[in-house]
Amino acid sequence: MASSLFIFFLNSLSNFLPLSVLSATVLEDLATLTPPPDFTTTITTNCLHNPLLRYCNNTSSPMNITEIFRSTIVASHLCNESKNPNCIDSFPKIRIHSRPKTAALYLSFDFFWKYCHLTVVEIQLGNNSLKSEFPTNALSCAQIRTLDLSYNQLTGSVPVQNLSRLTNLTHLNLSYNWFSEDKILNTEFFNRFNASSFIHSGLLPDVKRYKMRVLVLLVVFPIVVILLCCCLGWLCLKRPDYLPRTCRRRSHKFTSAMIDAATDEFSDQRLVSKRSGVDIHRGTLRDGREAKIEVYTEKVSKEKRREFEEECEAVLKLRHKNLVKVLGWCNSRNLRALVTEWTNGENVETWLSSSLASSWRRRLRVVMGVVEGVCYLWEQWPEITFDLNTSSVLLSDDDQEPLISQFKIGDGTVHQQIYSTLDCFFWR
Ligand SMILES: *[C@@H]1O[C@H](CO)[C@@H](O)[C@H](O)[C@H]1NC(C)=O
Ligand SMILES: *[C@@H]1O[C@H](CO)[C@@H](O)[C@H](O)[C@H]1NC(C)=O
Ligand SMILES: *[C@@H]1O[C@H](CO)[C@@H](O)[C@H](O)[C@H]1NC(C)=O
Ligand SMILES: *[C@@H]1O[C@H](CO)[C@@H](O)[C@H](O)[C@H]1NC(C)=O
Ligand SMILES: *[C@@H]1O[C@H](CO)[C@@H](O)[C@H](O)[C@H]1NC(C)=O
Ligand SMILES: *[C@@H]1O[C@H](CO)[C@@H](O)[C@H](O)[C@H]1NC(C)=O
Ligand SMILES: *[C@@H]1O[C@H](CO)[C@@H](O)[C@H](O)[C@H]1NC(C)=O
Ligand SMILES: *[C@@H]1O[C@H](CO)[C@@H](O)[C@H](O)[C@H]1NC(C)=O
Ligand SMILES: *[C@@H]1O[C@H](CO)[C@@H](O)[C@H](O)[C@H]1NC(C)=O
Repeated sequence: MASSLFIFFLNSLSNFLPLSVLSATVLEDLATLTPPPDFTTTITTNCLHNPLLRYCNNTSSPMNITEIFRSTIVASHLCNESKNPNCIDSFPKIRIHSRPKTAALYLSFDFFWKYCHLTVVEIQLGNNSLKSEFPTNALSCAQIRTLDLSYNQLTGSVPVQNLSRLTNLTHLNLSYNWFSEDKILNTEFFNRFNASSFIHSGLLPDVKRYKMRVLVLLVVFPIVVILLCCCLGWLCLKRPDYLPRTCRRRSHKFTSAMIDAATDEFSDQRLVSKRSGVDIHRGTLRDGREAKIEVYTEKVSKEKRREFEEECEAVLKLRHKNLVKVLGWCNSRNLRALVTEWTNGENVETWLSSSLASSWRRRLRVVMGVVEGVCYLWEQWPEITFDLNTSSVLLSDDDQEPLISQFKIGDGTVHQQIYSTLDCFFWR
């Protein structure tokens, strides 16, 4: 039955053009050959005899004679390419194996597949490096029993529903392709064929990849976590300033690594002054703020370091417009330092000697500021002692407010020269 349908089909062509005429390539024939004048009559006759011929079904779209003729040309070439034994009588197999260019060319002839011959029962397109989605064209041949697309590079998903509709399909091979993993395992479709139809097709969970994932999960992941913890631990201990502000437990606590970095490892350029036991550096914190860093060079006992810490805790709480703002301190085994805000203003001693200070009103304002600061300290923080002299009072950048800047930290000696300082403001 099937072969007789085909005879009708190809006879329509060979009646006019003996197959030997089709000697050029399929593309040349498609370009040069035109339907003979009585081709329409032949087709109509064919359909009268065999209404089942696919091109006779004109319920959805009218017959396109040009397309039917072109598909006949392609069929005769493809039949020969597929090495069917007798292309005049039958065309059972489309078999293009290991010929990537030929396979891709024939797959591109949409009109051929649309009228796919009812005699074709086997389609073999293996090992053609086809780089495309699933060739749904081939599914127009609804009667096929074998479909082999193995060893290609097909991607995307497999049209499971359309494949399921091919009731005669018993042998399917999609192995060795790059399909995206679908949930086909243990579906009806999967059971109709079996796993050997989908070897390395990308459709089934890949045991190797699964093992890799397990390996990653069991080995690499913990290592990464441990490394991250180490990094985090190191940062917490050495450079907490690299952590987000919210993660820092005590943002006023500076580590010696932080002080090192802020002062370019105590470079000479950063050294502002040197007094007995105290080196003053101008540092830049990681957030860009400038800071005055007083480093206490004297080696002290553990007990003294504890006192130092307490004093620092106290001065940290000072909040007054006439007191320099304390940012934090460092109290590690080999480094004690107090970090305060940096002011670009000169100290009162140099200010007094400059012309700017000449106005009595401004002098009075500065004195009042100092007095306010001192009162605040005496009233609220009697335990904090400070060093008050004209060189230790700084002027703020903007407002010419005085800032008391030297708290007595680290040596514990009470040493207040307040009256002599006030004297100085007026009699200089
Ligand atoms: C004709 O095609 C329609 C859909 O395009 C299909 O439902 C119908 O079964 C076909 N008829 C024959 C005789 O193939
Ligand atoms: C459909 O095909 C039949 C022959 O099977 C033909 O008589 C009829 O004219 C065709 N209809 C159209 C719209 O092409
Ligand atoms: C037949 O199909 C060709 C393309 O395949 C198209 O260019 C042509 O317009 C169609 N003819 C008719 C009558 O639909
Ligand atoms: C059919 O294929 C053979 C090679 O398999 C080739 O030599 C021959 O020319 C082809 N015939 C046609 C008509 O294309
Ligand atoms: C696939 O085709 C290549 C040439 O394109 C050939 O060398 C190879 O042997 C073929 N492999 C299989 C399994 O047919
Ligand atoms: C596949 O099936 C869908 C409906 O489920 C249909 O729209 C589509 O045209 C079919 N494709 C082919 C190539 O048969
Ligand atoms: C399946 O094969 C049988 C027997 O060859 C045939 O009668 C039937 O039409 C085929 N089914 C389809 C969907 O082509
Ligand atoms: C899978 O199906 C093929 C035929 O489609 C058969 O030859 C093979 O034995 C089957 N393998 C298993 C494990 O069932
Ligand atoms: C599909 O092809 C592969 C590779 O040639 C082969 O190992 C496998 O057995 C085939 N599967 C079926 C169902 O024929």
